[in-house]
Amino acid sequence: MEYKITVLPGDGIGPEVIDESVKVLEAVGRRFGHDFDLAYGIVGGGAIDATGSALPDETIEMCLNSDAVLFGAVGGPKWDDPQAKVRPEDGILAIRKQLGLFANLRPVKVYPTLINASPVKPELLEGVDMIVVRELTGGLYFAQPKKRWNTSRGRRSVDTLKYTEKEIVRILRVGFELARGRRKLLTSVDKANVLESSRLWREIAVEVSADYPDVELEHILVDAAAMQLISNPSHYDVIVAENMFGDILTDEASVLAGSMGMLPSASLAGLPDPSSRKKQPISLYEPIHGSAPDIAGQGIANPIGTILSAASMLQLSLGLDEEATAIEEAVEGVLAEGYRTADIAGDGGELTDTVRMGSVIAGRV
Ligand code: IPM
Ligand code: MG
Repeated sequence: MEYKITVLPGDGIGPEVIDESVKVLEAVGRRFGHDFDLAYGIVGGGAIDATGSALPDETIEMCLNSDAVLFGAVGGPKWDDPQAKVRPEDGILAIRKQLGLFANLRPVKVYPTLINASPVKPELLEGVDMIVVRELTGGLYFAQPKKRWNTSRGRRSVDTLKYTEKEIVRILRVGFELARGRRKLLTSVDKANVLESSRLWREIAVEVSADYPDVELEHILVDAAAMQLISNPSHYDVIVAENMFGDILTDEASVLAGSMGMLPSASLAGLPDPSSRKKQPISLYEPIHGSAPDIAGQGIANPIGTILSAASMLQLSLGLDEEATAIEEAVEGVLAEGYRTADIAGDGGELTDTVRMGSVIAGRV
């Protein structure tokens, strides 16, 4: 079978980690007899330099004409001027919005072999296996007004935290559906003691839960969630949160896994339905980390988050379960053998650069 995949490496370490995930995809293609037709596009800072836009029309066209999108990272000091009219990050935000990718799934899994790579006490990390469902196309990131202006009494700015009932219902449903297939605990994160949007969110969570009597729903305030994620992480099964809360909590949660470089993500326009014959909506797969300008170009970035994102693409967008499992097992095997990129080398092991890590994982596939 031939699959059309749009590859958007982006900036900083994006191209470095994407190269390794492509290497692993090619290994999967050889072993299982698939043809991955990869088309490379530009996005982010590189696209601004080339075209003036962080998401050129051509790139979004490519995404729309493919089965799935594999994304690296965008951003860098070169484009960080706070006054700039266009920023690299606008590229990924625009793709999310234009493809309707409202549900961002961020699984947080602790590999037993990496327990010592985390600063969190080993006994707290035992059994940690959660998935954070981050709302991705609403809330503070997108709602209007969003601007900055001058007044006679100084500069002003505004961002807006706005959610419609429809947006809240659909993201909660994704959370409930996922919890149903797991430990059946859904933790809804909000700031209902202060924010009106959170009070609506909580009310709707209770309403939607009536359709999922088999799933236990609990609510937690985002500040308490930030603490509990570290002090009692194994409690959590599925966590669902507003866009910005989810952004912050997943960087925090990555500490449990040993490094930001370990975490994959899937951005979906709804949960895929493998039983349906209809063409699935296009989804995007990207590591949760950014472009890491401080280590870009040194060949030391951890490609595992991106490689696992590619595995998730095989499973969710292409229905290739066995192939996805082959990648996951290869990652597990390589970690068990002691290969470590610098970010997860806290417990020793064999210090491995980006390219070698990609090669040993591809080799195991
Ligand atoms: C992420 C990143 C992005 C976000 C940035 C690069 C816009 O932090 O995917 O978590 O805030 O969503
Ligand atoms: Mg983030």
